[in-house]
Amino acid sequence: MFNIKNMKVLIAEMVDKKVVEKIKAQCNVDEKYKLSHEELLKIIPEYNAIIIRSETQVNRSFLDAAVNLKIVGRAGSGLDNIDIDYATKKGVIVANTPESNIVSAAEQTMTLLLATSRNTVWANNTIKSGKWDRKKFIGSELYQKTLGIIGLGRIGGLISERAKGFGMNLIAYDPYISDSRFEKYGVEKKNSIEELVKESDFITIHTPRTEETIDIISDKEIELMKDGVRLVNVARGGLYNEDALYRGMKSGKIASVGIDVWMTEPQETHPLYEFNTMIGTPHLGASTREAQFRVGDEVANEVLAGLKGEIVKNA
Ligand code: NAD
Ligand code: MLT
Repeated sequence: MFNIKNMKVLIAEMVDKKVVEKIKAQCNVDEKYKLSHEELLKIIPEYNAIIIRSETQVNRSFLDAAVNLKIVGRAGSGLDNIDIDYATKKGVIVANTPESNIVSAAEQTMTLLLATSRNTVWANNTIKSGKWDRKKFIGSELYQKTLGIIGLGRIGGLISERAKGFGMNLIAYDPYISDSRFEKYGVEKKNSIEELVKESDFITIHTPRTEETIDIISDKEIELMKDGVRLVNVARGGLYNEDALYRGMKSGKIASVGIDVWMTEPQETHPLYEFNTMIGTPHLGASTREAQFRVGDEVANEVLAGLKGEIVKNA
């Protein structure tokens, strides 16, 4: 086993404090947040490991500069901000925590499904501005409505279990899983995105961001949807084309959208912010104490293992 006392770990995005202490007990740790890509390129040569979430871009220029880097610890699941192929070529291990925040992401999805269908945020803003208005906020029930799930993986599966509790009918489109997974979750399989969007009252997406999934919902798919459809995205920005969403909201075809993730983040202004029927959150799917402790603890174990030359889980 290597002595890692002199190794240097950069924590570039916030993780749980107890986790930082755990790593500090074994090697040198610097916490430097909100660095620009250029600032990061200047300091990364001195580090043997880096811990990140979804904002840091581990691309070619980063990996070329990171001459002493052994491992990238991704405190979370999505790997779309990391050039995995190039990291592998450079001999840099990439490890994530695919299970640790899925419950929080599923609960954030249910929050947005419920809050958008009942105008919760708009009504809250209205009452706080001194107006008592009950007529404006007629919502819709989830009960006996059809929820279309795009991507029936870890989070999609948890959504199906939770939505069943609300009495929803469940359909899903996921061409990469076996029929037995649809059966396990009691979800009707749809063979195309078109079939799914035509039959859904509510749509939620839980796929990774890939060339195939960016814009998987755009004008053509929105046109096929039922009038008054409600959409949620807690997966990755750009899976629903944001310009098409705007047009769908403007025309009234879409009744509401709940969006946690954006094509560009941070996203301080956006045309969609004009709609009271849009609830937006700044990528908070995994932002619970429980998820942050679990992802941090898991990524700390992975980074320490990688520095010691031991087997790294989820690499
Ligand atoms: P997962 O890998 O377990 O499941 C993804 C599913 O998508 C798989 O079943 C896969 O077959 C399916 N899929 C892939 N391409 C598809 C396509 N073209 N059409 C339909 N289905 C397709 O992933 P997960 O853990 O469920 O995570 C889902 C998404 O949620 C990821 O993008 C992840 O980054 C994101 N996420 C966001 C937050 C947040 O804070 N908002 C938190 C956790 C995860
Ligand atoms: C993830 O992919 O795990 C989420 O986007 C959450 C995060 O990175 O904090």
